[in-house]
Amino acid sequence: MNATLSASGITVRFGGLTVIDKVDLTVSRSEVLGLIGPNGAGKTTFVNVLSGFQKPQEGNVRLGETDITGTPPDHRARLGLVRTFQAVRLFPALTVSENIIASAQAMGCSHRECRQRERDLVELLDLGDWAGVDAGALPYGVERRAGIARALTAKPSFILLDEPAAGMNEDEAFAFLSVVGRIRETDCGVLLIEHNMGIVFDLCDRVHVLRSGSTLAVGTPTEIRNHATVREAYLGSAA
Ligand SMILES: Nc1ncnc2c1ncn2[C@@H]1O[C@H](COP(=O)(O)OP(=O)(O)OP(=O)(O)O)[C@@H](O)[C@H]1O
Ligand SMILES: [Mg+2]
Repeated sequence: MNATLSASGITVRFGGLTVIDKVDLTVSRSEVLGLIGPNGAGKTTFVNVLSGFQKPQEGNVRLGETDITGTPPDHRARLGLVRTFQAVRLFPALTVSENIIASAQAMGCSHRECRQRERDLVELLDLGDWAGVDAGALPYGVERRAGIARALTAKPSFILLDEPAAGMNEDEAFAFLSVVGRIRETDCGVLLIEHNMGIVFDLCDRVHVLRSGSTLAVGTPTEIRNHATVREAYLGSAA
């Protein structure tokens, strides 16, 4: 169950302006799907639709067989679809471990399950050196990893990440996103919005390209890199 997260025929209008126009998109568990496109292409709006923060005028969103189009974000989170936000919401006076445990407790996990999840997530997100440090004292990149660890305590089937490496330099972003790539090993599909093409092509299993609210191309990194229209329209010298 929950084998795919799929959206079909999604249209979003703000006033008279159509910012998403009949877009179909699918993410499966165990893959990282890159969602790319120029500024204003509609990437964030699309993630808002998937996560329930934006109601589409047309189209529907399905989690496995379940139509979740009209449901609120917290309902989707309970079904296994989570997202992270630009501002990390950790308790600053609790350590990284305590933050993860607090989140697992809030989900009703037993004491043993909480400790197990904490150990697993600290390992998965390379937080071993930081587990005992107060969240309020973490360097930026580590804080972002801890925020993702906390989102993963729910054992989601899908996680949506909108430019999680924003504000990092290229080396930091590369290291950070390589760790993010491990999430797929936990049987959790990842939708990643990221501007750095090198990182996207390196990390993602498939790439979905939006331009002006429409799908320009979907394919493997190699296919997208060699896609004539994508190269012309968007990648330019980066290709
Ligand atoms: N609440 C809103 N009201 C009106 N227009 C909006 C609203 N939110 C987004 N838009 C418009 O929708 C279009 C798509 O915006 P969106 O933020 O989804 O793009 P994006 O691909 O995430 O861009 P970026 O790469 O800059 O983050 C833009 O033209 C934007 O101005
Ligand atoms: Mg955006």
